[in-house]
Amino acid sequence: MPDATARAGANVALVKYWGKRDEERNLPAVGSISITLGDLVATARVRVGDTGAARFLGGGEVVSGTAADRMAAYLDWLGPQLGTNERLTTEVEATFPVGAGLASSAAIHCAVAVAAASALGACVDRSRLSRLARVGSGSAARSIYGGWVEWHRGERDDGEDSGATQLLGEDTWPLAMVVAIVHDGPKEVPSRDAMRHVARTSALYAAWIEAQPDDLAAMRTAIAARDLTAVGTIAEENCLRMHAITFAARPPVLYWAPATLAAMEAVRGLRTRGCEAYFTIDAGPQVKVLCSPQNVDTVAETMAAVPGVVRTLRSTLGGGAEVLEGPTPWK
Ligand code: DP6
Repeated sequence: MPDATARAGANVALVKYWGKRDEERNLPAVGSISITLGDLVATARVRVGDTGAARFLGGGEVVSGTAADRMAAYLDWLGPQLGTNERLTTEVEATFPVGAGLASSAAIHCAVAVAAASALGACVDRSRLSRLARVGSGSAARSIYGGWVEWHRGERDDGEDSGATQLLGEDTWPLAMVVAIVHDGPKEVPSRDAMRHVARTSALYAAWIEAQPDDLAAMRTAIAARDLTAVGTIAEENCLRMHAITFAARPPVLYWAPATLAAMEAVRGLRTRGCEAYFTIDAGPQVKVLCSPQNVDTVAETMAAVPGVVRTLRSTLGGGAEVLEGPTPWK
């Protein structure tokens, strides 16, 4: 039974993906830009043709429920895309909490797509792997590349123009991220459900779609200029806009905890003391703080001292997905 192992880093969007133009193919309503993290990593082993085993193991345990159903459906879709009708199974490990708004599904689905291609001996470039990973979880399209990554909205109905490209390598402009964990359990409303609900019911959704191209253009310029102030300012505005449309859904979806706001205030406080740091928040209460590597200790200590922050994680920017065992699918 062939098998292969691959790993991929989580990524954090600084210009967010929120809303789909096609739910089945995971085609986004807007483009997005993220950084890939080197220290929050998922590893997936994929086996081909193992009919007896559980489909999805996480940390040695059989995964059940929605995540398992979603992974089984993804594996059933992925196999034929890579030229097999044999059953695929996967076993996943992550260096960080899963399902808590830390982009675990991006790292996991990306690692699974790469490991499956490797296990099947398929010849697939990163661009196609990005599009294959996207169908598992939209944000997984970005984890295939390291550093600064843009996932393009695309126009085509078949999604062939909706994959990621790298804007800047991870070593070109080293930055760091501190994650302030304010709640360790699973998130309340999965991003997939929240996105659909927001698109259907939020009176502000149309304004979000309209504003996104300007944020993307400004972010590309800021990244090219290595301008942390501009990157951080755009990221905070874009994050707040995403949460504003989410608050405006009927009924509202509120991802923030009181400590989320306290952590945001602490980040603003750092800036008034001359330490450049900027927050972003995804579909959960955790606050992710972007800063330069020389400020990471100050930022981590400040965030750890915020009442309600349970613990902090740190990461540098990381590289693209890699095969650990098995043939590399790309040249
Ligand atoms: C808030 O990629 O998890 O993190 O495509 O339905 O699997 P699905 O959603 P997912 O959504 C991520 C949303 C976000 C913003 C982002 O990562 O761009």
